[in-house]
Amino acid sequence: MTMESKAAAAIVLAAGQGTRMKSARPKVLHEVAGRPMVLWALEAVFEAGASRVVLVVGHGRDEVERVVRARHGDRVTFAVQETQRGTGDAVRTALPALEGVVGSVLVTYGDCPRVRGATLRALEATRADAPLAFLGLELDDPTGYGRVRLDAEGRPSSIVEHKDASPEERAIRLVNSGLYTFELEFLRATLPTLTTDNAQGELYLTDLVARAAAAGRPGVVVTGSMDELRGVNDPLELAEVEAACRRELVRAAAKRGVRFDDLATAYVDAEVVLEAPCRIGAGVHLRGRTVVSADARIDAGCVLEDVFVGPGAHLRPYTVATDARLGELAEVGPFSHLRPETTLGRKAKVGNFCETKKTTIGDESKVNHLAYVGDGQLGQRVNVGAGTIFCNYDGFLKHTTVLEDDVFIGSDSQLVAPVRVARGAYVASGTTVTRDVPADALAISRVKQENKEGLAAKLRARGKAAKAAQTAAKAAKAQGDGGH
Ligand code: UD1
Ligand code: CA
Repeated sequence: MTMESKAAAAIVLAAGQGTRMKSARPKVLHEVAGRPMVLWALEAVFEAGASRVVLVVGHGRDEVERVVRARHGDRVTFAVQETQRGTGDAVRTALPALEGVVGSVLVTYGDCPRVRGATLRALEATRADAPLAFLGLELDDPTGYGRVRLDAEGRPSSIVEHKDASPEERAIRLVNSGLYTFELEFLRATLPTLTTDNAQGELYLTDLVARAAAAGRPGVVVTGSMDELRGVNDPLELAEVEAACRRELVRAAAKRGVRFDDLATAYVDAEVVLEAPCRIGAGVHLRGRTVVSADARIDAGCVLEDVFVGPGAHLRPYTVATDARLGELAEVGPFSHLRPETTLGRKAKVGNFCETKKTTIGDESKVNHLAYVGDGQLGQRVNVGAGTIFCNYDGFLKHTTVLEDDVFIGSDSQLVAPVRVARGAYVASGTTVTRDVPADALAISRVKQENKEGLAAKLRARGKAAKAAQTAAKAAKAQGDGGH
């Protein structure tokens, strides 16, 4: 009598094409909260305690393998199912990879991203000495699923696939979710007995339920919830599963002390880290490996991907940032765009309608209004005036602009890179800087101003007269036309 509630191994099926997704991308690589479905499925079996994990791949296998290896390295073994001859065939493909393994094996699907490890563990515990256990669902509309037939004692005697089911069987509402645990010995002994003698000409893994019952050792069915066990077959199901997943992620963060202005419109990817207490506005998207540190505030409409937000930093509404690092107490926005490799130091500030790219902005430096700052290295306490442009691209190559500590750039200046403005220098408004500026120097390149007395009034009078003459000519013409 063993009560081991941990499966030694797991087989995750992911060879199918998923035609209903209407997408060239392999189905299991579609993301749920920023994480490909197959990685959710693998997470669950690892969480359940499986140490030997085999992923059955077929359609789009190169792409699937690449994504899985990037995350799990060699922890996952791949079994290739060239043609999809059914779930029984898929599991058969995986068995050689588990040679020598004893105990039990979980069988799950790569397109069931909501399944939790704890549920699989519980299933394992329930199986006890039976050769198999699986998760079932009570559905109002069981169309398409395999129906679970029970014996007089409520134990599963067989699973009948929808296409093979009689009208009476189709009335059964208890269906197979497709998640199982098997005693490996039983699986090895009975898989070879499967036949394609069915409506789809496939090898049905589900036929093993009847094999177990026939051998006098019926399996166990445990009823689960649709929210957790549903698979994804089309974009609608994907969106629904994702909505449920995000809802859970956001609520869990709120429970931990993150303040959301609107739970319903905060979109937080699975890998995002939110340190309590921080505050997240309505319609905020936090993607990839974004980290929001304690006391930071992300206002409405911000979209951040792979961004580190330092402690106490404040992103005002509609800031868009990708692959950026914001130091402690930094401030950005509203309406600014931080492109990849932007770094803001402590208390650095990027105001409204600015664009940055591959730029470091040192502590307490400011780029406050309508500027483009690309390929820049800004020291501390630098001030970049309104409308300043870093001319970083000559049509062929990108060049760097260096502004050393305490530099002041007057409004509407252009810095034609490569160029360096040394410590404490001052660039006058409207200057086009094409040569390096020495420390503490003033660079000015604007044309000297002239004031022509009374010229504006004269021009105005001339313009008014021209306009009156045109109006009179039009009126005369209209009268002439009307006369015919
Ligand atoms: C299967 C079950 C059915 C259950 C349903 C739940 C069988 C015969 N039927 O239905 O009882 O109600 O799941 O969703 O098992 N796959 C492979 N290789 C194959 C076939 C499938 O890897 O040759 C993978 C698919 O990628 C998918 C999973 O197995 O992840 C299920 O395949 P799918 O065709 O959706 O399930 P059905 O056979 O229709
Ligand atoms: Ca399916």
